[in-house]
Amino acid sequence: MASLEDLIPTVNKLQDVTYEAGIDSLDLPILSIIGSQSSGKSSILETIVGKDFLPRGTGIVTRRPLVLQLVNISEDSPLIYNYSPPQTESSTPKAASASQEEFNLEDHLRQQNNNYKPDVGNEWGEFMHIPNKRFYSFTDIRREIELETSRIAGKNKGISRLPINLKIYSPRVLNLTLVDLPGITKVPIGDQPTDIEKQIRNLILEYIAKPNCIILAVSPANVDLVNSESLKLARQVDPQGKRTIGVLSKLDLMDHGTNALDILSGKVYPLKLGFVGVVNRSQQDVIQNRSVEEGLESEEEFFRSHSVYRTISQRCGTRYLAKLLNQTLIAHIREKLPDIKARLNTLMGQTEQQLAQYGGLSTSTSSLDRGTLILQLMTKFAANFVNSIEGTTM
Ligand code: GDP
Ligand code: NA
Ligand code: MG
Repeated sequence: MASLEDLIPTVNKLQDVTYEAGIDSLDLPILSIIGSQSSGKSSILETIVGKDFLPRGTGIVTRRPLVLQLVNISEDSPLIYNYSPPQTESSTPKAASASQEEFNLEDHLRQQNNNYKPDVGNEWGEFMHIPNKRFYSFTDIRREIELETSRIAGKNKGISRLPINLKIYSPRVLNLTLVDLPGITKVPIGDQPTDIEKQIRNLILEYIAKPNCIILAVSPANVDLVNSESLKLARQVDPQGKRTIGVLSKLDLMDHGTNALDILSGKVYPLKLGFVGVVNRSQQDVIQNRSVEEGLESEEEFFRSHSVYRTISQRCGTRYLAKLLNQTLIAHIREKLPDIKARLNTLMGQTEQQLAQYGGLSTSTSSLDRGTLILQLMTKFAANFVNSIEGTTM
């Protein structure tokens, strides 16, 4: 049966189809990570994915938006290609079974763990700019991101608004779409133009202004929250703090005798979705080749054994953050489903009309084939999948 979790691959597939068709009007949900330079954005993404694959370190490293789709490929969460809609034999009220089908995160994660076989080759990445090539080495993925960054944004610290699109297929990830954005900087260096700060701000705003964007606003704990660039930007587009998740990084680097319990408990800065504290690997850890797993373990140990955070350790750390993101995204998609469906219907109407016009001409163009394919895909999603999910969950 369709579960809530299947929503995200569906939405991802829709995103692909519409992107390939040059359509940008579905406005599907997405998560963007923002913060000042070196606040830990790329580190957090790596920990969520569980792999070292991002260019990361001191100074400006992320110089183009990276649109990262995580695709879970465990058996209970089939790829959308393999999905066949459930046969509805009768009109028995689906609502009755809804609670049973309610996505259970703990079960899902346990299932994922059970399914995890550390074979070489069961996790890979694919770039949109290199179709049909699977990258099984995450070191190669990092190298390709670096190459592709330099290709468009130059070698000397310039930035570009043109995104890099990467998909990671793995049995260990939760289905999420994340955008890593260049960090906010003040002072131009290298080839950066004098208005670099404004350019980066505008680039970030372009992503986070969309009402369908969930904002992951990272603030380093060793800088006063009042000065947090990410929260200032997030507030511009989400003044009521409804779609912003606060992330407090570098909790290990706070001055001795101070702590962030008040912030993490929501007593300092109001965000509906709250704050999550994390401890990423330090530059030293990276130099010493400490793995993501080791980093995660010592992060958990940090919170478990901390005299203050111990009491809230269940709601701390990157693992918890990943769960929260996944749940938030699902809730968001559920809320937007009627809207997405309406847009989809409009789009299908338009595509049908276009096809009818093409049909009048005798030339069989490849755009006609593509148009037909897209229409078929959309029809499939709208008529079967989205409807069935809507029926079971709303
Ligand atoms: P970004 O510029 O926001 O993407 O930041 P990066 O993830 O590239 O991290 C910048 C530097 O800070 C790297 O050297 C990281 O190892 C280090 N770093 C990030 N988060 C933490 C943290 O929580 N604790 C410590 N000690 N170092 C961190
Ligand atoms: Na950095
Ligand atoms: Mg970065």
